[in-house]
Amino acid sequence: MAMPDPHQDVRSSSGVTISVRGVSKDYATANGETVHALDAVDLDIAAGEFVSVVGPSGCGKSTLLMLIANLVPASNGTILVDGKASKQALDRAAIVFQRDVLLEWRSVLDNVLLPIEIKHLDRAVYRQKALELLDLVGLKAFADRFPRELSGGMRQRASICRALVQAPGLLLMDEPFGALDALTREQMNFDLQRMWMRDQNTVLFITHSIEEAVLLSDRVIVMSDRPGRIAEIYDIGLARPRGAQSRSDPRFLQAVEGIRRNFMALGILSEV
Ligand SMILES: Nc1ncnc2c1ncn2[C@@H]1O[C@H](COP(=O)(O)OP(=O)(O)OP(=O)(O)O)[C@@H](O)[C@H]1O
Ligand SMILES: [Mg+2]
Repeated sequence: MAMPDPHQDVRSSSGVTISVRGVSKDYATANGETVHALDAVDLDIAAGEFVSVVGPSGCGKSTLLMLIANLVPASNGTILVDGKASKQALDRAAIVFQRDVLLEWRSVLDNVLLPIEIKHLDRAVYRQKALELLDLVGLKAFADRFPRELSGGMRQRASICRALVQAPGLLLMDEPFGALDALTREQMNFDLQRMWMRDQNTVLFITHSIEEAVLLSDRVIVMSDRPGRIAEIYDIGLARPRGAQSRSDPRFLQAVEGIRRNFMALGILSEV
């Protein structure tokens, strides 16, 4: 029997599909004003697809992510996860925020197993999987350590393992590497790519880094300033796995340049 190719670009997937139709979001502020955060967003994400969102601060990226996770209600429009109202999405979704939210009094392994405990699943069954995930990101030797003994990058790796331990169909990541130094961030990109290729989750990834978005994604969504709208969607056709050499691939450079030009045309970026 042929062995599966570990570098295969996996597409058929256990990930969920997402359908966003005409979604808007208005927030009522404390002083009685209304913030029109998102406006008429339409978006389809295929099962197992890796989609990034880039856009200026305050354009509604986190809002879009929270709407899909059903953590805040939409003002208008519908969101379907695997064809169902996204109320059920939280069951299939794991969220990674910019700052890791590890519990300081639990070991790294116990932090990774937290969702298993919350869902009353069999800890013994998932322990092995948790250790495999920690191994995958070079943290196996730290399984019994406490978060305070870890660096920022190691902590964020542990929180990604925690998100992945229950095999979510949907991984929602809100600037997960924003607080990391550049070198650690680069390593995290490769770690995330490896895990995504292995697990076939659907991923919605928010970042301020155009290069990071292009390196990781099947598609990059460019959002305009508030109220956030989808200004453009870029298909990134580069083969995987994408390594450091991908950054000098003409198609990588072309995509990065195209997105940057788009931000200039939108008045979000300006040169000297
Ligand atoms: N709970 C809230 N109440 C009122 N306004 C809010 C609330 N949450 C977000 N907003 C406003 O909605 C807009 C979009 O916010 P959001 O957090 O989605 O932006 P973002 O694109 O994630 O920004 P950043 O890149 O800085 O994280 C902002 O103007 C923000 O002030
Ligand atoms: Mg945000």
